[in-house]
Amino acid sequence: MENWFSRGLITWYKTNKRDLPWRNHKDPYKIWLSEIILQQTQVIQGTSYYLKFTQKYPKIGQLAAAKEDEVLKLWQGLGYYSRARNLHAAAKVVNDSHKGVFPSKYEDIKALKGVGDYTAAAISSFAYNMPYAVVDGNVYRVLSRLFGIETPIDSGTGKKEFQQLATELLDKKEPGQHNQAIMEFGSQFCKPVNPDCPNCIFNAKCVAFKNKQVNELPVKAKKTKVRDRFLNYVVLIDKKNEIYLNRRVAGDIWQGLYEFLLIESDKEITTPQLLNHKKVKEAAGEKFKLLHTSKLYKHVLSHQHLYARFYVVKTSISLSKTQTKTTLNNLTDFAFARLSEKFLNDCELKEIV
Ligand code: ADE
Repeated sequence: MENWFSRGLITWYKTNKRDLPWRNHKDPYKIWLSEIILQQTQVIQGTSYYLKFTQKYPKIGQLAAAKEDEVLKLWQGLGYYSRARNLHAAAKVVNDSHKGVFPSKYEDIKALKGVGDYTAAAISSFAYNMPYAVVDGNVYRVLSRLFGIETPIDSGTGKKEFQQLATELLDKKEPGQHNQAIMEFGSQFCKPVNPDCPNCIFNAKCVAFKNKQVNELPVKAKKTKVRDRFLNYVVLIDKKNEIYLNRRVAGDIWQGLYEFLLIESDKEITTPQLLNHKKVKEAAGEKFKLLHTSKLYKHVLSHQHLYARFYVVKTSISLSKTQTKTTLNNLTDFAFARLSEKFLNDCELKEIV
């Protein structure tokens, strides 16, 4: 394959790249950290998390030695907490099984929890300049348009086809820079909506531009099925102004995080339905008072639409000694999922109670 593509790309990259903190060094630990954070959020928000993590844990051993609660708290706001747990678990593996030195073999990198093909290729090429081609959403978009490929990117055939093409096109002398450049080009120029095709360096060769297919590519076969979940949270405050908390156990996206008393439903429920629910009566007893009902908070995930409402309830009983609970002042020490965090930021609980 002639390398007009890589040449053009790298020239473009050198004058147009953003100055991002993880691009100024080759530390595999920090590159890995940046990639895990960027799986979860955009560069603008990701940068502040990257800086927080690298300041608190400049070396992987420090991350490995941290308490899980502390790592989750630092991750708070990014969502998909399994990523933070995998991050922590992988740091421990590097510490224990690789003597604290971040692995440099592709297979060892890929064996780390939370690291898939894309992330392993990103770390291998950015940190060690190894010839592994990255394929992320940006790469699918650039290649499908430039070469007019209509194979669905969410099919097995599509994944193989794009990976193969990306590998053929990869500049084997500068794989790290080539990979950064194709992703940057996809995110900054060959954008999902309204790309500036008339000024594109590749428009003379771009099949999608020629065939007016830019908005149709890349192709996705499946529409994602979305499930609605209604999260009715009771912020239960006892006689001593202590607040009921539950720590989510294994098995879901909120594992390890704290939440208020949750009654989940697949439809919206009324206030009387909620207050008569047996879980509320079990926890609050028969005598309690509803002090505040929040607005409905919405949060969109890839496969779920979450709707949450918070009911602040004061009970005349005391929560039991074995119960997880906290005071109003210490509430911010706990890591909550995003919707509860939003509610807590909006609501002055101290003024309600
Ligand atoms: N998105 C994912 N990885 C990235 C990186 N290294 N630079 C910019 N955006 C990214």
